[in-house]
Amino acid sequence: MEMENKFLIEAFQTPKNIAPQLSSYFNDLPVDKYVDSDHRFRSYARFQAENSEIVRLPHSTFTQSSEFNRVVGDIERDFAEMDKSMIETPHFQHVLKSFMQRTGTDKDHSVVDVHQIRVTCDSDATSAPAPEGIHQDGYRFVGIFCVQRKNISGGYTQIFASPVEQHPHMNTVLEENQFVILNDSRYFHHISETLSSETGEKGVRDVFVFTA
Ligand SMILES: [Fe+2]
Repeated sequence: MEMENKFLIEAFQTPKNIAPQLSSYFNDLPVDKYVDSDHRFRSYARFQAENSEIVRLPHSTFTQSSEFNRVVGDIERDFAEMDKSMIETPHFQHVLKSFMQRTGTDKDHSVVDVHQIRVTCDSDATSAPAPEGIHQDGYRFVGIFCVQRKNISGGYTQIFASPVEQHPHMNTVLEENQFVILNDSRYFHHISETLSSETGEKGVRDVFVFTA
């Protein structure tokens, strides 16, 4: 019988040229029309490994069960399609492959969902990158890769062993080029509120979120 090691949490850093090459692709993201704020922008794509290639799957709507998402669960969301030219960059391909290799989804042909998300904030009002609070996404794996943090205070990536735990297992600022992947069936996660650290200027937090 083959031994199977269970995946818990991995955090690592990509080469430092990756994030700067991807940040401009967040400037024209359309607003996320499913949240009641003008601080959230996003696009969506799905991928699958076939033989040695990663194939982009046809665009589709996205629905999360209300069991996992108290804010927009059971609502069919039609996000914008992720920019094709960005997907084709070696920088995006590197990040996508990193997620697939670390989770084994390059071998088991699981569908990998990718969300490209910008959350902005002001210096006098906080924004909630995770409006659903401490949560699971309802997958085996969740990965968060930080592309940009500009003028941001807060926005801690927090990992909890249970939704009612007072102290996070991990509480860290995910800096540019840093990637954290966790076993979503084992852990809960949350991103704390953000506030712009520069008076009168917008704060910007750009991430890719991967699920499989
Ligand atoms: Fe999440």
